Order: sequence, then structure tokens, then C-alpha cells
Amino acid sequence: MRELTPETITDAVLEQMATTSDPRLKEIMAAAVKHLHDFAREVNLTPGEWIKGIEFMTLVGKMCTPARQEFILLSDTLGLSALVNGLHDKTALEEGTHTSLLGPFYREASPRLSAGSQIARHVKPGSECVLYGRVTDIKDKPLANATVSVWQTSADGLYDIQENPTATDYRGVFTTDAEGLYVVRTVRPCGYSIPMDGPVGNMVKAQARHGMRPAHIHFLVGSPGYRELVTALYLRDDPHLADDVVFGSSDDLAVDIVPDDPQSPVKGVPSIRFDLRLSREGEADRTSGRVGSDPSAILKEAAPAAH
Ligand code: BEZ
Ligand code: FE
Repeated sequence: MRELTPETITDAVLEQMATTSDPRLKEIMAAAVKHLHDFAREVNLTPGEWIKGIEFMTLVGKMCTPARQEFILLSDTLGLSALVNGLHDKTALEEGTHTSLLGPFYREASPRLSAGSQIARHVKPGSECVLYGRVTDIKDKPLANATVSVWQTSADGLYDIQENPTATDYRGVFTTDAEGLYVVRTVRPCGYSIPMDGPVGNMVKAQARHGMRPAHIHFLVGSPGYRELVTALYLRDDPHLADDVVFGSSDDLAVDIVPDDPQSPVKGVPSIRFDLRLSREGEADRTSGRVGSDPSAILKEAAPAAH
């Protein structure tokens, strides 16, 4: 029997896994093993450090509930979600609006609302704003009947389920009109800290990072024949626009709140205009491009089948 050493173990593992019949699984697992082994060799990983790593991942798993997905948060804070988003963007047939993170607060169960509805149940005086824009293809052709799902924090910087796990607030699904226009009444979003009370928060604190996301509003936009768009707008004046803890913000998604935009469909209320350009659907769109998911849907899929 050959002797396994830190120098030869990687090839031995790859040889044993070479029987994997699914070619993509084989490719991904081989690369994962190579990089993991290189990582351990590079930092000269000690047994105590690896146990700490295992404890950390165990805590991340234990923190996951139908309302909280700590693994998505880990992927986000390590920049992996933003990287996978960027790789997915490159597979689009056309260059539309750039994507941004879905994040852990997206919910499939979101109310369908008519154009111009207010998505917040309570609007503090002075916090109201109008959000509007056109959904088009990349040649500016309006897309009628496109679905525009939006979700955001309250003016205090908390998502509905952080305030109350069973609440639905600050979110809604709208439909564009014949000109591709969507109109939403909402409240000014607020920059906020990602959840810091779990293992990912402890990691962020140990790294002396601030943990803040700039003020933003999420979008999930769909229209038949077009690539689904997961994106977000970011308020340009937010101090964390350039150092988002989850690497989702970018200059091309930054917008201003305009006090008296003459083009706003609602007069007398500050407004944000955010146009959305969709790429035509291509080969790469046969599977979902969402980097993230509704946490309750992940748990449903992971549950063993009932007999
Ligand atoms: C969010 O935008 O809601 C979010 C994204 C990543 C991590 C935490 C929050
Ligand atoms: Fe968010």
C-alpha cells in the first residue's frame, strides 16, 4: 500500500472520486478538494483550528430556521454570492440591468398589489416616497405585464420578519402597464446592519468589519421570454455605498431621492426613478439564476419526504 503524505493525499482522493458518473458533480468536487487541500497546506492548518472551523459551520447550520438562513449570510459576507451573481451575469444573452443580491429576506408569499399601492402598513410623517420606473428590453421596448416584486426595510432599518416573524410588510408584487411602467408607494429605506447575533455576526466582528448594508430596495423582475432579474437599487447618499458588508452595491445601481421630479406619476411626494432592462432569455436561463432563496423554501426542500 502506498504511503499517504500531505503531498500525495490530494491525488489519492481525486483518484477515488474519479468514478463519479455525473460529470459536473465530478468537476465541482475535484476542484473543491484541490482548493481545500491547497488551503490547508498554505496556512498549515492545525487540528485545533480545523475543529474550530467545524464548530463554526455547525453553529451556522443550527442558526437556520424558516425565517433565517445563516448559510446565505455566510456566503454573502464572504463575497461568494456576489461572485456567483457576477459569473451568472456573464452568461446573459444581452447586458441588461446588473444583478444584485437576493439576500435572506426575500419571501415567496408576498401580496399582489395594484399600481401605486403603499407597501408599508404604517408611514411615519416625512418618510413616504414614490418608486417608479419602466421595465424594458435592452432596446427600450416596454414590457407590459411584467411582474415587479419589491421588498425593503422599514424606515427604522428592519425587515418585517425581523420585527415580527409572521408579519408581511414593506413588500409587494406589482405588474407593469402597457408602457412598462410600475409605480409603488413606500417609505424611504434605511441602511442597516446584517443580523449580528449569530456565528456570521461573530465572524464579522472578529474581523472588525462594520456589518452595514447601504440603504436599498430589492427587486425581482420577470417577464415571459426574458431572463429573470434579481437586483436592488441603492441610495447614492448612503455612507456605506462603497463598503457594503455583502458586496452587493455598485455605482450603476445607485439612485437619488428627488424631491420634485416633474416626471413622477405621483406629485408632491419625493420619488425614486429606477428603470429596469431585461435581457432576452437564453440557454443559461433553463435553471434559476437566483443566488439565494426564501429560507422557508430551502427548509421545505431539505426536509425528508414524509411516508
Ligand atoms: C439584504 O439585503 O437584505 C441582505 C443581503 C445579504 C445579507 C443580509 C441582508
Ligand atoms: Fe436587503
